[in-house]
Amino acid sequence: MANSLFAFRSIRKVAFTSSASASVKWKGGVSLVQGASRGIGLEFAKQLLEKNDKGCVIATCRNPNGATGLLDLKNRFPERLDVLQLDLTVESTIEASAKSIKEKYGCLNLLINASGILSIPNVLQPETTLNKVEKSSLMLAYEVNAVGPILVIKHMSPLLKVGGTGIERDVAVVANLSARVGSIGDNRLGGWHSYRASKAALNQLTKSVSVEFGRKKDPVICILLHPGTVDTDLSRPFQRNVPEGKLFTKEFSVQKLLNIINNVKSHDNGKFFAWDGQEIPW
Ligand SMILES: NC(=O)c1ccc[n+]([C@@H]2O[C@H](COP(=O)([O-])OP(=O)(O)OC[C@H]3O[C@@H](n4cnc5c(N)ncnc54)[C@H](OP(=O)(O)O)[C@@H]3O)[C@@H](O)[C@H]2O)c1
Repeated sequence: MANSLFAFRSIRKVAFTSSASASVKWKGGVSLVQGASRGIGLEFAKQLLEKNDKGCVIATCRNPNGATGLLDLKNRFPERLDVLQLDLTVESTIEASAKSIKEKYGCLNLLINASGILSIPNVLQPETTLNKVEKSSLMLAYEVNAVGPILVIKHMSPLLKVGGTGIERDVAVVANLSARVGSIGDNRLGGWHSYRASKAALNQLTKSVSVEFGRKKDPVICILLHPGTVDTDLSRPFQRNVPEGKLFTKEFSVQKLLNIINNVKSHDNGKFFAWDGQEIPW
């Protein structure tokens, strides 16, 4: 697939002459959900479209043609949802997406990095002991869970702006999906070395970006979010030991996370929040 194309753009053709005029046109705001083929990312795209009838959403994923949930959403919201191909491990696809968004929208009010890997059959298994740690697993988890999201922020950052009269926030927001197990202070069980370390790296990288964003004239708030244990493909192999009532639906978790995003304040920049708004220690 030509990675610089909006995969399903044929429905309408709108010419935008400049970034400035584009930011005025998107009155409900422009949100990017990276990692939206399924799970929590797909639910973010759905709720953003359902809750703000003027907002536009750009959803990215590795294989748009195979993302059936996203295709269904595109059928429901043909005018307000665009789908772009983006693989976190291929930086040129990130750059191409940023270029396409700049050309069509000229701005972004919200960027959510929702992708993540914990296990991949025959490739990546959460390690139960040190003996099972493999260099390839550490590198892969780091590449997808930490490096990729930061490169997305790097390439999208020139587009991050406040805007859109229909949105509640007066700041642009970057929200990275982390995990409580990425907290070093909260690590009492050990194990899952690759996943834990990659999320700890994501936390540190995001914190550094937030410090830099804090110096900008136009405010951009950068936060980390733990969604709880959510019933998705990622958690499915590990749900056996989840206590009763602690396995959330993606609808519930995303509703809580959007509430945090929509109410974020400048003093929240660089913080790590759980789904219920509690701050998580580093
Ligand atoms: N579910 C939980 O209980 C839980 C708990 C704590 C934290 N989290 C975090 O929440 C986030 C979402 O998790 P989830 O439960 O929704 O997982 P999921 O259902 O397994 O979805 C993972 C998403 O990441 C995408 N992805 C994987 N590798 C990618 C790559 N190289 N480039 C671009 N996208 C890639 C997948 O795309 P493909 O369809 O192309 O594979 C998919 O859209 C993750 O960061 C995860 O670590 C989840």
